[in-house]
Amino acid sequence: MSESADERKGPAVDPRILRRLWPFLRPHQRWVWLGFSCLMLGLGCRLAGPFLVKIAIDDHLAAGEPDGYGWIVGAFLALAVIEALLRRVQQVAVDTGGQSALLDLRLAIFRHLQRLSTRYFDRTPTGKLIGRVTTDVEALNEMFSTGVVTILGDLVFLVATLAILFGLDWQLTLVTLTVVPVLLAITMFIRIRVRSAYVTMRSKLSEMNAYLHEQVNGMPVVQMFNRQQATRDGYGEINAGVRGAQLGTVYWETLLSTFVELLSSFTVALILWYGGGEVAASMGATPSPGERALTLGVLFAFVDYMQKFFQPLNELSLKYTVLQNAMTASRRIFSLLDEDDVLPVPATPHRPDEVRGQISFEQVGFAYKEGTPVLHEIDFQVAPGERVALVGATGAGKSTVLKLLTRLYDVSAGRITLDGVDLHDFDPKALRQRVGMVPQDVFLFEGTILDNIRLGKPEVSDADAIAAATRLHLDRLVERFPGGWNEPVRERGRNLSAGEKQLISFARVLAAAPEVLVLDEATSNVDSHTEHLLQEAVHEVMQGRTSIAIAHRLSTVRDVDRILVFQKGRIVEQGSHEQLMAAAGVYADLVKLQEGLVDTG
Ligand SMILES: Nc1ncnc2c1ncn2[C@@H]1O[C@H](COP(=O)(O)OP(=O)(O)OP(=O)(O)O)[C@@H](O)[C@H]1O
Ligand SMILES: [Mg+2]
Repeated sequence: MSESADERKGPAVDPRILRRLWPFLRPHQRWVWLGFSCLMLGLGCRLAGPFLVKIAIDDHLAAGEPDGYGWIVGAFLALAVIEALLRRVQQVAVDTGGQSALLDLRLAIFRHLQRLSTRYFDRTPTGKLIGRVTTDVEALNEMFSTGVVTILGDLVFLVATLAILFGLDWQLTLVTLTVVPVLLAITMFIRIRVRSAYVTMRSKLSEMNAYLHEQVNGMPVVQMFNRQQATRDGYGEINAGVRGAQLGTVYWETLLSTFVELLSSFTVALILWYGGGEVAASMGATPSPGERALTLGVLFAFVDYMQKFFQPLNELSLKYTVLQNAMTASRRIFSLLDEDDVLPVPATPHRPDEVRGQISFEQVGFAYKEGTPVLHEIDFQVAPGERVALVGATGAGKSTVLKLLTRLYDVSAGRITLDGVDLHDFDPKALRQRVGMVPQDVFLFEGTILDNIRLGKPEVSDADAIAAATRLHLDRLVERFPGGWNEPVRERGRNLSAGEKQLISFARVLAAAPEVLVLDEATSNVDSHTEHLLQEAVHEVMQGRTSIAIAHRLSTVRDVDRILVFQKGRIVEQGSHEQLMAAAGVYADLVKLQEGLVDTG
């Protein structure tokens, strides 16, 4: 099975990545150090346990010496309790430090996403970006939750155990260690299977999630076209794949633990067989000085140490994989954080207190993708207070003009000025405060209607927000809702009609009271009553301020000062409604076409 590019392995420990992760952990390092100290102290307790038992057996039980035996038992118990406490503190401390660092990391990614340009979002799939904040951060989280941080402790423990074993009896240690290569080989082999089973499972799960997401969103269409049976079958098929993949992970994981347990018992048998023989031989005989004597206590300590030895050894390969995943995820997160496709902002940006609203496009050219220009030599001026409309066929470049004016994108050629100042010299925040845009695609957020109206200027009072909306006659729609102005808005505003959403979107801009207004009329069809409301709304918001409106319903802009007609990225005609009708050109054709449609409709 091939691994996807995202699952490609890298080194499990990459110093450059660790150096970049450190700043997130540094503010919480007290927790990490606390955890680390507890870990090391806990290890000491863990190592001392079997040794105490050895002393109890050899120096007291075997030697028939009852004095001090109680102390040893007490010490053993005390050590066990202390170790448990230390382990608890260590787990909580490491998790607290780790989770706090992850919180900071998530915030940093989010902050960075907010700085990225519209262009970046055009070319990056949303799922990929969400994945950075969720799945990839989760991979780092796994690093804390599976205790990878204790990997250092494991290594110390293994080395210390070996040292003690060699100190106790080096021959028996060598015999026992023959099992280790077998253990390592088997765990490594099975771990690779486990890992690839997990890769399959993750891809099956994300396939299922994507399918589910699409099906839930498209449920009305599924029901409308009676596709239930077919989509259920599709879902069943994907689900069978998920079951298979899950079983695969369980199969290999349980096989691994079976083997490890078996080997651990095998080792005990080995110790009993080899060591036990020696103990029996030395029983009764008093060893001469320097001669090796394997005692019962040592034998017991061996069995105990070896069992404790196996657990971290078994987990090492798991922790290695988790660490490797965390590194891959971090690499992806940092490549997003390194993404510098942000709007260039001048060192001393222009932040006017107010603008007059004189707009000038000078030979503006623009391409979303290099080589396919969508605007050519756009040249027009709008005087302060003038009301201009852009009309033209779909795809002619009208919305693009507005996106350039609000600097969602930067021009490829020529320049745009506001009050004679190049847009590049503006602080984008100040520019967007002065130039309010009603976008073509209305986007409402979860909250209430009032929350959505106040979006651009949260400090606007309830009364002012309602006043702005009332100027658009939104009050007539809102009074039908049980919650009134506090009626909840569901995600993307799907509990509202297209016309209602548009009116809220208008009110949102009006409440922020920008000096210049640009308005991209939505193309969706609304009933004639709402159409009338929208028409009045457009008229209302354009009144008395510099405004540019894109109109699909030509009737809405009949009374503007000037109409610019767009065709294939160029301005082909301009003038007032009467002038353009008299000229009998592109505009006149468009109007006739629409009126014809209205007649037949
Ligand atoms: N984000 C984008 N990336 C690439 N190309 C784009 C993007 N947005 C628009 N285009 C292309 O640019 C051209 C102009 O699009 P624009 O949205 O300005 O048209 P429009 O005149 O507003 O059309 P409509 O009346 O349908 O709203 C179209 O050919 C469109 O395919
Ligand atoms: Mg458009």
